[in-house]
Amino acid sequence: MPKTPEKLYRCRDCDAQFLKWAGQCDTCGHWGTLEQTTLAASATHAEKTTARAGKAALIPFAETPTKEGAVPLPTGLSLWDTLLSGGLVQGSVTLVGGEPGIGKSTLLAQLCLSVAALPGNRVCYVTGEESPAQVGGRLRRLAGGTISDRLFAVNHTDAPTIAATLLAECPTLTIIDSIQTLRTEGVAGEPGNPTQVKASAAIITEAAKRAGVAVVFVGQVNKDGDLAGPRLVEHLVDTVLMMEGDRLQAFRWLQVLKHRFGTTDQAAALHMTEHGLEEIKDPSALLLADRPTGVAGSVVTCLADGHRPVLCEIQALVTPAGYANPTRRATGVDQNRVGMILAVLARRSGIPFGDQDVFVNAVGGIDAKDPSADLAIALALVSAKHDVALPADVVAWGELGLAGEIRAAKSQDQRKKEAERLGFRPVAGTGKTIRDLVYAYKLGKG
Ligand code: TYD
Ligand code: MG
Repeated sequence: MPKTPEKLYRCRDCDAQFLKWAGQCDTCGHWGTLEQTTLAASATHAEKTTARAGKAALIPFAETPTKEGAVPLPTGLSLWDTLLSGGLVQGSVTLVGGEPGIGKSTLLAQLCLSVAALPGNRVCYVTGEESPAQVGGRLRRLAGGTISDRLFAVNHTDAPTIAATLLAECPTLTIIDSIQTLRTEGVAGEPGNPTQVKASAAIITEAAKRAGVAVVFVGQVNKDGDLAGPRLVEHLVDTVLMMEGDRLQAFRWLQVLKHRFGTTDQAAALHMTEHGLEEIKDPSALLLADRPTGVAGSVVTCLADGHRPVLCEIQALVTPAGYANPTRRATGVDQNRVGMILAVLARRSGIPFGDQDVFVNAVGGIDAKDPSADLAIALALVSAKHDVALPADVVAWGELGLAGEIRAAKSQDQRKKEAERLGFRPVAGTGKTIRDLVYAYKLGKG
């Protein structure tokens, strides 16, 4: 058995343990947070505590209750009731994550207004990030005037105070905006650091279960996609919703990542208007609304990267390069993949772009960085270069391999269904090469 170390250092913020002291924690990157600690988790300690513990009873699963009595509470908004298979469950905790400015507070303000408008409901909004006046102003604007007198602000960030309020008042719904502002006395660190977030979320979750109150946590996600805050409490909550998309993009996706009371294959497309977030029922139709047909360089693709399938147009423009170094510009698609696709077209189909400026654009500000857009990009490039349009009802998806082979994309059946719903014919590309398709659609020169 290896010798047990005599000294151990523990990070005050993230609980990581180290054998040597250092100025900076290797795990969370915080400075000056390592503290010497006792060896509570050593092997001898484990033996001692096991010896002291009593044995747990074995419950046959055959005798456990068939249903836990999770009754969803309708919210009055089809968006929430559809995503959450009937509504918010009483005593459940939901986490809504997303980057700052994406629209979390707006989304939840709309939820509050709708739930509070239903008879018998009372709603609390814990205003940690903004003042009650700011949240109230947003609510009034979204409601277009007066708001229900059963909608309350709670201007506290102390987790035990909020928990006690839930137990005493039992509101139907409580929004906590955000978990990063919560604090719990006696727990080390500043609000927002992992220990504080975990401890505070646990206190409120426990109170929500006891009081039978539906709680929604807002969790800020950093710009670099680090889920440090929200990810810490994902195991604790019943439901996780993530808002994604660029603030400047056509729309945001609201996806169900985890849902203990229903399915998780749900997602909604939303866009921000002056009246708050509105659901886009048919994003494909919206994205293809202004599409020109019979134009070279335009190909429709179907994206299904972490959301439900949506059709969008890929446009390419190819012109003789004016300078020694040809331009390659990509908007909404991955610039590196465009580079790779150009190389594959040159090597595997004999269509070089070396002396051409190349522009590729995913129309409508949608994020088409998924590799399944490769085939549409490749066809759009060849179509643009040789000035030959593809049939207007063609839709292409599939990843392009370095040998020029077309690989199957995931969610094949769902993409096919969405394409056919809008009258498109999917390109049967899987198992073929890009060269085969260039011939099949007569995109070759002349
Ligand atoms: P917000 O919901 O505060 O984002 P988050 O809570 O995720 O940080 O607001 C997002 C942006 O939306 C903000 O810049 C203002 C804008 N907005 C509208 O365009 N229309 C509206 O009706 C509202 C309430 C906000
Ligand atoms: Mg906010």
